[in-house]
Amino acid sequence: MLLQVNKLADLDIRGKKVFVRADLNVPQDEVGNITEDTRIRASVPTLRHCLDHGAAVMVTSHLGRPGEGRVGPEDTLAPVAVRLGQLLGQPVKLVANWVDGGFAVEAGQAVLLENCRCNIGEKKDDETLARKMAALCDVYVNDAFGTAHRAEASTHGIARFASAACAGLLMSAEIDALSRALGNPERPLVAIVGGAKVSSKLTILRSLAQKVDQLIVGGGIANTFLLASGKRVGESLAEPDLVKEAHAVMDLMRARGAEVPLPVDVVVADEVSALARANKIAIDEVGPNDRILDIGPRSAAHLAQIVANAGTIVWNGPVGVFEHAQFAGGTKMLASAIAHSQAFSIAGGGDTLAAIARFDIAANVGYISTGGGAFLEFLEGGTLPAIAALAARHDRRRLP
Ligand code: 3PG
Repeated sequence: MLLQVNKLADLDIRGKKVFVRADLNVPQDEVGNITEDTRIRASVPTLRHCLDHGAAVMVTSHLGRPGEGRVGPEDTLAPVAVRLGQLLGQPVKLVANWVDGGFAVEAGQAVLLENCRCNIGEKKDDETLARKMAALCDVYVNDAFGTAHRAEASTHGIARFASAACAGLLMSAEIDALSRALGNPERPLVAIVGGAKVSSKLTILRSLAQKVDQLIVGGGIANTFLLASGKRVGESLAEPDLVKEAHAVMDLMRARGAEVPLPVDVVVADEVSALARANKIAIDEVGPNDRILDIGPRSAAHLAQIVANAGTIVWNGPVGVFEHAQFAGGTKMLASAIAHSQAFSIAGGGDTLAAIARFDIAANVGYISTGGGAFLEFLEGGTLPAIAALAARHDRRRLP
């Protein structure tokens, strides 16, 4: 996990042609307006650094999951070029059909190379494509943590063939934060894993159960754990066929003298809607028609206490349906506990970022990852292919 990679800040890039693979995969509305630009803003420091240090900058990203061989109107990075230009305070020209070169970029200028996932061979990490992209530059900079779990030609293959390869500032910050939280964490290490299904996070739960001191589960995941501990969950979202796996996770934790705290009270309703009537009840009072949609105040206070005593907190997923006010109490209390904690905290994943925004605690979280799938795969404990490719180039003698 603690892989060593070359870092952009250590390289002399003056007068060099720099190829930056960023993750500018941002949500858009039906006419292509960018609705949320966090990833573009997160990519700016690396690009600014390259421009300020006299490099000629070409940057590319995927957008969506297009087919290869053509750029459809919904695939173009044109809106991203405009937003990037605004953020950099200088024009950013969009370059199409760029794989074979033939475009100019001067030191201090930046161009945006059209959606790299439309290039034939990108997704299969084709060597010919990777070599062509490598030939465009003196230095390859991977700043796309959000795509680091994909071994594609622009995230993986190119790192093998470029004259030099390094992590950009965002990628370095992500690696440092995740390594700090999971590599050699200050104890107790507390992980919060919420979300709908045990099945989608089973590998993460198993992996974390071997590292963390307390594993807080939330949402539908907690319901399956409640079933495993003999509780009734009524009509709640749960996966009865994964009760054995939930048991195994609890046993793993117990064997290490650690625990999975389960709710002692919950908020139930008979439907998930903004108008649903919520009832706060003890866990043993859950009836056959009830749906558990949040943890109750006693459970939330207990989790807040655990978080308050933590040395490190890793957070992925809410503990209730926080989108509706009557089921938001548990996640709100947890968010507030994280914000007030002295511990180093790291959070990632779409729902978690939405909760952070909703309860306005961004400024008080130690690190907020830009990765969705990449963040989850890092938690699973695997080596992300794009980071492994950079690590394979960790060699100071080969810097330009
Ligand atoms: C994301 O949105 O999580 C990243 O940009 C990766 O996108 P992908 O899942 O399409 O590779």
